[in-house]
Amino acid sequence: RDAAVAQVEGLIRDIPDFPKPGIIFKDITPLLGDAAGFRTAVDLLADSIEGPMPDYIVGTESRGFIFGAALAYHIGAGFIPVRKPGKLPSDVYACEYKLEYGTDALEVHRDALSQGARTLIVDDLLATGGTARATGDLLRRLGAEMLGYSFVIELSFLNAREHMIDAPVNAIVRV
Ligand code: PRP
Ligand code: MG
Repeated sequence: RDAAVAQVEGLIRDIPDFPKPGIIFKDITPLLGDAAGFRTAVDLLADSIEGPMPDYIVGTESRGFIFGAALAYHIGAGFIPVRKPGKLPSDVYACEYKLEYGTDALEVHRDALSQGARTLIVDDLLATGGTARATGDLLRRLGAEMLGYSFVIELSFLNAREHMIDAPVNAIVRV
Protein backbone atom coordinates (compact mmCIF):
# COMPACT_ATOMS: atom_id res chain seq x y z
CA ARG A 1 0.00 0.00 0.00
CA ASP A 2 2.84 2.43 0.79
CA ALA A 3 4.18 2.17 -2.76
CA ALA A 4 0.71 2.75 -4.17
CA VAL A 5 0.18 5.82 -2.00
CA ALA A 6 3.61 7.14 -3.00
CA GLN A 7 2.72 6.63 -6.66
CA VAL A 8 -0.44 8.71 -6.24
CA GLU A 9 1.29 11.37 -4.17
CA GLY A 10 4.03 11.69 -6.78
CA LEU A 11 1.46 12.51 -9.45
CA ILE A 12 -0.12 15.42 -7.55
CA ARG A 13 1.46 18.69 -8.56
CA ASP A 14 1.75 21.81 -6.39
CA ILE A 15 0.91 25.01 -8.24
CA PRO A 16 1.93 28.04 -6.15
CA ASP A 17 -0.25 31.16 -6.11
CA PHE A 18 -3.27 29.58 -7.84
CA PRO A 19 -6.03 30.68 -7.93
CA LYS A 20 -4.78 33.47 -5.65
CA PRO A 21 -1.43 34.59 -4.23
CA GLY A 22 -0.45 32.51 -1.20
CA ILE A 23 -2.57 29.47 -2.13
CA ILE A 24 -0.77 26.28 -3.18
CA PHE A 25 -3.15 24.48 -5.53
CA LYS A 26 -3.13 20.67 -5.55
CA ASP A 27 -3.29 19.83 -9.25
CA ILE A 28 -4.61 16.33 -9.91
CA THR A 29 -4.35 16.49 -13.71
CA PRO A 30 -0.99 14.63 -13.81
CA LEU A 31 -2.63 11.85 -11.78
CA LEU A 32 -5.65 11.71 -14.07
CA GLY A 33 -3.45 11.62 -17.14
CA ASP A 34 -1.33 8.72 -15.88
CA ALA A 35 -3.16 5.49 -16.71
CA ALA A 36 -1.51 3.40 -13.99
CA GLY A 37 -1.64 6.18 -11.41
CA PHE A 38 -5.31 6.92 -11.96
CA ARG A 39 -6.14 3.25 -11.66
CA THR A 40 -4.08 3.00 -8.45
CA ALA A 41 -5.95 5.97 -6.94
CA VAL A 42 -9.32 4.37 -7.67
CA ASP A 43 -8.10 0.98 -6.39
CA LEU A 44 -6.96 2.62 -3.13
CA LEU A 45 -10.35 4.28 -2.71
CA ALA A 46 -11.99 0.89 -3.20
CA ASP A 47 -9.56 -0.87 -0.82
CA SER A 48 -10.35 1.62 1.94
CA ILE A 49 -14.00 0.56 2.07
CA GLU A 50 -14.52 -1.53 5.20
CA GLY A 51 -17.70 -3.30 6.16
CA PRO A 52 -20.79 -3.18 3.99
CA MET A 53 -20.42 -2.02 0.41
CA PRO A 54 -22.17 1.21 -0.57
CA ASP A 55 -25.27 1.09 -2.73
CA TYR A 56 -24.26 4.48 -4.09
CA ILE A 57 -21.16 6.57 -4.49
CA VAL A 58 -21.99 10.26 -4.11
CA GLY A 59 -19.70 12.58 -6.04
CA THR A 60 -19.57 16.35 -5.68
CA GLU A 61 -19.32 18.49 -8.80
CA SER A 62 -16.97 18.64 -10.47
CA ARG A 63 -13.79 16.89 -9.45
CA GLY A 64 -15.72 14.46 -7.27
CA PHE A 65 -17.38 13.16 -10.43
CA ILE A 66 -14.07 11.96 -11.85
CA PHE A 67 -13.05 9.69 -8.97
CA GLY A 68 -16.59 8.98 -7.79
CA ALA A 69 -17.84 7.64 -11.09
CA ALA A 70 -14.72 5.50 -11.60
CA LEU A 71 -15.07 4.08 -8.08
CA ALA A 72 -18.79 3.38 -8.56
CA TYR A 73 -18.04 1.42 -11.73
CA HIS A 74 -15.17 -0.42 -10.02
CA ILE A 75 -17.20 -1.63 -7.04
CA GLY A 76 -20.51 -2.07 -8.85
CA ALA A 77 -22.40 0.76 -7.11
CA GLY A 78 -24.70 3.42 -8.49
CA PHE A 79 -23.53 7.01 -8.78
CA ILE A 80 -25.34 10.08 -7.44
CA PRO A 81 -24.18 13.51 -8.59
CA VAL A 82 -24.33 16.40 -6.14
CA ARG A 83 -24.35 19.45 -8.34
CA LYS A 84 -23.86 23.19 -8.33
CA PRO A 85 -27.14 25.15 -8.32
CA GLY A 86 -29.47 25.06 -11.28
CA LYS A 87 -27.99 22.03 -13.01
CA LEU A 88 -30.31 19.24 -11.88
CA PRO A 89 -33.60 19.14 -13.78
CA SER A 90 -36.02 17.59 -11.27
CA ASP A 91 -36.99 18.51 -7.67
CA VAL A 92 -33.93 19.10 -5.47
CA TYR A 93 -32.79 19.67 -1.93
CA ALA A 94 -30.27 22.50 -1.67
CA CYS A 95 -27.62 23.19 0.95
CA GLU A 96 -25.71 26.45 1.22
CA TYR A 97 -22.14 26.39 2.46
CA LYS A 98 -19.54 29.01 3.25
CA LEU A 99 -16.68 29.91 0.98
CA GLU A 100 -13.81 32.15 2.04
CA TYR A 101 -15.85 35.02 0.59
CA GLY A 102 -19.62 34.56 0.37
CA THR A 103 -21.55 31.34 -0.04
CA ASP A 104 -22.21 28.69 -2.64
CA ALA A 105 -24.76 25.90 -2.73
CA LEU A 106 -25.03 22.28 -3.73
CA GLU A 107 -28.10 20.36 -4.86
CA VAL A 108 -29.24 16.75 -5.12
CA HIS A 109 -32.35 15.20 -6.60
CA ARG A 110 -34.98 14.48 -3.96
CA ASP A 111 -35.62 11.05 -5.46
CA ALA A 112 -31.94 10.12 -5.83
CA LEU A 113 -32.19 7.22 -3.40
CA SER A 114 -34.57 5.36 -1.13
CA GLN A 115 -34.51 5.67 2.68
CA GLY A 116 -31.62 3.85 4.29
CA ALA A 117 -29.59 3.35 1.14
CA ARG A 118 -25.88 3.03 1.94
CA THR A 119 -23.82 5.89 0.59
CA LEU A 120 -20.15 6.87 0.42
CA ILE A 121 -19.17 10.47 -0.39
CA VAL A 122 -16.15 10.82 -2.66
CA ASP A 123 -14.21 13.93 -3.64
CA ASP A 124 -10.71 14.73 -4.78
CA LEU A 125 -9.80 17.06 -1.93
CA LEU A 126 -10.70 17.73 1.69
CA ALA A 127 -9.69 21.30 2.52
CA THR A 128 -11.95 23.28 4.87
CA GLY A 129 -14.58 20.56 4.65
CA GLY A 130 -17.37 22.95 3.64
CA THR A 131 -18.10 21.05 0.46
CA ALA A 132 -18.11 17.67 2.18
CA ARG A 133 -20.29 18.83 5.07
CA ALA A 134 -22.84 20.31 2.68
CA THR A 135 -22.90 17.03 0.77
CA GLY A 136 -23.40 15.14 4.03
CA ASP A 137 -26.28 17.45 4.98
CA LEU A 138 -27.99 16.68 1.68
CA LEU A 139 -27.64 12.95 2.23
CA ARG A 140 -29.15 13.20 5.70
CA ARG A 141 -32.13 15.03 4.23
CA LEU A 142 -32.53 12.17 1.75
CA GLY A 143 -32.57 9.67 4.61
CA ALA A 144 -29.41 7.95 3.42
CA GLU A 145 -27.16 5.87 5.60
CA MET A 146 -23.71 7.47 5.45
CA LEU A 147 -20.86 4.98 5.43
CA GLY A 148 -18.22 7.67 5.24
CA TYR A 149 -16.25 10.25 3.32
CA SER A 150 -13.35 9.31 1.07
CA PHE A 151 -10.83 11.72 -0.47
CA VAL A 152 -7.75 11.42 -2.63
CA ILE A 153 -6.02 14.31 -0.80
CA GLU A 154 -6.53 15.74 2.68
CA LEU A 155 -5.06 19.08 3.72
CA SER A 156 -4.71 17.92 7.31
CA PHE A 157 -3.46 21.29 8.64
CA LEU A 158 -6.95 22.70 8.07
CA ASN A 159 -8.38 20.21 10.61
CA ALA A 160 -11.63 19.70 8.65
CA ARG A 161 -11.76 16.14 9.95
CA GLU A 162 -12.40 17.38 13.51
CA HIS A 163 -15.76 18.78 12.44
CA MET A 164 -16.82 15.70 10.49
CA ILE A 165 -18.04 13.50 13.29
CA ASP A 166 -21.08 12.00 11.56
CA ALA A 167 -19.17 9.39 9.56
CA PRO A 168 -15.62 8.05 9.15
CA VAL A 169 -13.20 10.09 7.03
CA ASN A 170 -10.65 8.41 4.77
CA ALA A 171 -7.92 10.03 2.66
CA ILE A 172 -5.28 8.39 0.47
CA VAL A 173 -2.71 11.19 0.71
CA ARG A 174 -2.50 13.48 3.75
CA VAL A 175 -0.46 16.66 3.46
C1 PRP B 1 -12.60 21.91 -4.65
C2 PRP B 1 -12.33 20.44 -4.45
C3 PRP B 1 -13.29 20.06 -3.35
C4 PRP B 1 -13.39 21.34 -2.52
C5 PRP B 1 -12.60 21.20 -1.24
O1 PRP B 1 -13.76 22.05 -5.43
O2 PRP B 1 -12.62 19.72 -5.65
O3 PRP B 1 -14.58 19.74 -3.86
O4 PRP B 1 -12.83 22.39 -3.32
O5 PRP B 1 -12.64 22.40 -0.49
P1 PRP B 1 -13.37 22.52 0.89
O6 PRP B 1 -13.04 21.31 1.69
O7 PRP B 1 -12.75 23.77 1.48
O8 PRP B 1 -14.82 22.68 0.65
P2 PRP B 1 -14.20 23.42 -6.11
O9 PRP B 1 -15.32 24.01 -5.31
O10 PRP B 1 -13.00 24.28 -6.34
O11 PRP B 1 -14.84 23.02 -7.50
P3 PRP B 1 -14.49 21.91 -8.62
O12 PRP B 1 -14.51 20.56 -8.00
O13 PRP B 1 -15.60 22.09 -9.58
O14 PRP B 1 -13.13 22.25 -9.22
MG1 MG C 1 -14.73 20.09 -5.97
